[in-house]
Amino acid sequence: MITYSEKERVFKLDTANTSYIIGIVDDENFIGHVYYGKKLKDIDVTYLLKTWEYPFVPSKNNRERCSFYDLFPFEYPTGGMGDYRESCFEVKTASGHFGSMLSYVSHEIINGKPKLEGLPATFGNEDECTTLKIVCEDKYIGMQVELLYTAFNDTDVITRSVKVINTGKEHFYLTKVFSACLDMDRKDFDMVSLNGSWARERHIQRKALGYGIQKVSSFRGESSHQNHPFIALVDRNTTQENGEIYAMNFVYSGNFCAQAEVSQFDYVRMSMGINTQNFCWKLESGESFQAPEVVMVYTDKGFDSMTQNFHRLYKKHLIRGQYKNKKRPVLINNWEATYFDFNTKKLLSIAQEASKLGIEMLVMDDGWFGKRSFDNCALGDWKVNEEKIEGGLKNLVDEVNKLGMKFGIWFEPEMISPDSDLYRAHPDWALAIPGRPGTESRQQFVLDLTRKEVVDCVYEQVASILRSANIEYVKWDMNRQLSNIGSYGLEADRQGEIYHRYVLAVYEMQDRLTKEFPYLLLENCSGGGARFDPGMLYFSPQIWCSDDTDAIERLEIQEGTALIYPLSTMGAHVSDCPNHAVGRVTPFETRGIVALAGTFGYELDVTRIPKEDKDMIPSQIEMYHKYNDLVREGDYYRIASYSQNHQYDCWQIVSEDKTESLVTFVQVMNRANYKSRRIILKGLDEDKKYKVVFTNVKDVEDCVYSGDTLTKAGIFIPNPWGDFKSVLIHITEV
Ligand code: DGJ
Repeated sequence: MITYSEKERVFKLDTANTSYIIGIVDDENFIGHVYYGKKLKDIDVTYLLKTWEYPFVPSKNNRERCSFYDLFPFEYPTGGMGDYRESCFEVKTASGHFGSMLSYVSHEIINGKPKLEGLPATFGNEDECTTLKIVCEDKYIGMQVELLYTAFNDTDVITRSVKVINTGKEHFYLTKVFSACLDMDRKDFDMVSLNGSWARERHIQRKALGYGIQKVSSFRGESSHQNHPFIALVDRNTTQENGEIYAMNFVYSGNFCAQAEVSQFDYVRMSMGINTQNFCWKLESGESFQAPEVVMVYTDKGFDSMTQNFHRLYKKHLIRGQYKNKKRPVLINNWEATYFDFNTKKLLSIAQEASKLGIEMLVMDDGWFGKRSFDNCALGDWKVNEEKIEGGLKNLVDEVNKLGMKFGIWFEPEMISPDSDLYRAHPDWALAIPGRPGTESRQQFVLDLTRKEVVDCVYEQVASILRSANIEYVKWDMNRQLSNIGSYGLEADRQGEIYHRYVLAVYEMQDRLTKEFPYLLLENCSGGGARFDPGMLYFSPQIWCSDDTDAIERLEIQEGTALIYPLSTMGAHVSDCPNHAVGRVTPFETRGIVALAGTFGYELDVTRIPKEDKDMIPSQIEMYHKYNDLVREGDYYRIASYSQNHQYDCWQIVSEDKTESLVTFVQVMNRANYKSRRIILKGLDEDKKYKVVFTNVKDVEDCVYSGDTLTKAGIFIPNPWGDFKSVLIHITEV
């Protein structure tokens, strides 16, 4: 899987279908990126480094050393020496100088995958992956840099990360430490990214790459609604089924930057890492800095293949805990049902009705603590408000349990309201620039999690609530982004560490939580889906996808999210209409079928919705139980995209053994005088026979066709009457 050829000085990393090749050149041991792409049999490709061409290498042509730096495809480019493309690494020494250059020192090939200290990362044992550690140095600074690469066996993924060690006598400052880079000598790519806003997260954007730098980034202290820590460079002809893709996804939940730079020679440098804005990390002699992990996928088989590689990796090598491969309880959340206006009586009336319909868990959302009756106070005061929760929390949980339901609760542990007992006692516990008024957002400040006493205090408050009753689910929310970056607990030359330290503290808190309460189902959330990233998935098997629960808006959000993340991770609920985000009215059936492509749950007042909607809930829950194993574990294929065709959406899930499949078709806008629409199925075994059942369409007979026919000739979807109609087709081997 990973080999080193001493003679050629070449590393070769292989996955099932891809090869990644690194070469060491010249007397100064420059580390060059030779190749990443379709699997190669041989290593005789070092000519791709072009060192046979002018300006050659410095030992042959030192007079043009600068030109060499500016052309050479570096594995990990550093700045300030003559490579004028954007670097991955910058350091400022104690004497105030910038500039560094790395040369190879040694390497190690390790079976399995070492952990990254303090950070979430993918994992795999000795049979599942192999890791290459390349140690390089800048002897003038007194610094070692370890480049880590892991190649997986069961998915075409290579992960990368970087560790910097101060081996000198003096401190220095890291002002940039990206985690991965790909220098490629071609430029005719499109760049694909996921962009949006609150309630419009992760819409797919594809545009042609041009000269200069094109980037997506976040400076909000979280991965964000607006941009996503993902980019893919794809061949101009790449489709769902065909074509080359180089993709990167960051296992990190804070400020990031993902970019592609097309340079003067029509080369492209693709890179990803922690955003440099406000980043400055001091490393004392002997200290080290571990940068987060980047997941890279290469495929020549289009987006379906890229998606399946990411899904497989995250399902097997990132998500943990007892719910990793398990069906989740069908929950009902009271947020859209009641907002802040609830008490024990109201919650129990919802639970009583819900339990009769087959719903399995009640989740009490924001508003149960301190004196919180609106979003303007009490964050930080994690004590039950017994005026609302009469009889106390344990009593409520016990009553819900007596109905045969589990109980879940909402927290927003990272925040503090100016109007809270916590703030009155510790005004210096909020992030703030001394002497400057704080900037409120949703009338709240962000806690200074760089301080251990703050983390410990909040953790203890959260944990004591969880210890006080039989609580089996936590929704961990974060409703504002970071600003006013200042900590009373850090020295002046460490204020540039706050953003990253904050993320590390969130990880540490969630690590403690999942260790102390291993049975918990944790669902991360951030004002909808602003922190939906692989970093958070390491701690919670599901993340609330968006505050927009409208089934039609969700098509685009879920399509973008599922481009990278397994359906089992996407928090999706059936809510009431007119929808609270867009005012749209859609059929209850469609709301259920769209939520089925995620975790599936309800977010409505079941005591007040129309009877005909309520009557559908038991059969929707039956549908969830019937199909969830397939939805959660199967391979996902995109058949049509509403965001592209503006009329209909269609996706398919196929079980790993290809014996079962589920096709979802949503007709967004009907057309007059339009006939049945033909769709071509995917992923089925050509040699198997399948029974095709239109589960919710009357007058269509069950039929049997071969996988060959279904994946070549396809099937017809009869034109549904009306907008927002959905069709669910179940396919089983006969
Ligand atoms: C934002 C979340 O996305 C909502 O579901 C809800 O929990 C609110 N926060 C509560 O403040």
